[in-house]
Amino acid sequence: MFDTLKRDLDAVLKRDPAVHSRAEVFFCYPGFKAVRRHRRAHKAYLKGRYFLARWISSRTKKKTGIEIHPGATIGEGLFIDHGAGVVIGETTIIGNNVTLYQGVTLGGTGKDTGKRHPTLGNDVVVGAGAKVLGPITLGNHVKVGAGAIVLKDVPDQCTVVGNPGRIVRGPAKRPEIDLNHGDLPDPMLDKMQQLYKRLSQLEKVLTEHAIKVGCAGCPVEDCPGRENGGCQSAAEAQ
Ligand SMILES: CC(C)(COP(=O)(O)OP(=O)(O)OC[C@H]1O[C@@H](n2cnc3c(N)ncnc32)[C@H](O)[C@@H]1OP(=O)(O)O)[C@@H](O)C(=O)NCCC(=O)NCCS
Repeated sequence: MFDTLKRDLDAVLKRDPAVHSRAEVFFCYPGFKAVRRHRRAHKAYLKGRYFLARWISSRTKKKTGIEIHPGATIGEGLFIDHGAGVVIGETTIIGNNVTLYQGVTLGGTGKDTGKRHPTLGNDVVVGAGAKVLGPITLGNHVKVGAGAIVLKDVPDQCTVVGNPGRIVRGPAKRPEIDLNHGDLPDPMLDKMQQLYKRLSQLEKVLTEHAIKVGCAGCPVEDCPGRENGGCQSAAEAQ
């Protein structure tokens, strides 16, 4: 119990540059209060004491402006900054070290039954006023921009903004390990092939020019065409 309390306190201390002490968080932060009270409500909910669970959560809403359904599953270190207007639905699942700003809704679309609220991975940040709707999944380290409306799954490490939410930053690409040693790239061979191609093109242009000007005006002194009636006849012979 004290471990979770410490982690909930530390989450605020680590992520809010405006905080000065643990006491400040404990007594003055509505987000912290709402998370602590939710943990009690959730325990009651899991034991089937639905009225008590609801009563705790409705009192929390009155005190903090944050409505978390007692059925929501919340990991460690959730930080709800400012708090007002945050709504978290019954079947929401939130991973560890998630940050939610004011006005965030983790809700349903109204079309689904059963699991109808989002699942958030670890280290997710959801900006002020953003709405994440439906039984979708936001991967680990996802950032949702302020005011976004997200209706589709978002893979790990992506940033999604706008309405409807679109991914503007993808996951950092890691080089894949290629173990196929028989197929290594050969930059020298590539360069040689490029040079050979350019030389052939130059030869072609030069021959066309020589045909136009005749052997007298041609700079290629040892051209075999000179003895055989010039490039014209050589080209015709081909
Ligand atoms: C989305 C956010 C987390 C930044 O994530 P990021 O991965 O660093 O993304 P960037 O800042 O590089 O922005 C990526 C693009 O999205 C745009 N963008 C960023 N936030 C946006 C938003 N909320 N709405 C619309 N577009 C946004 C940027 O202009 C940028 O566009 P560009 O590529 O055309 O220049 C941040 O902008 C945000 O919205 N944070 C929420 C903070 C908040 O709610 N604070 C409340 C404190 S009270």
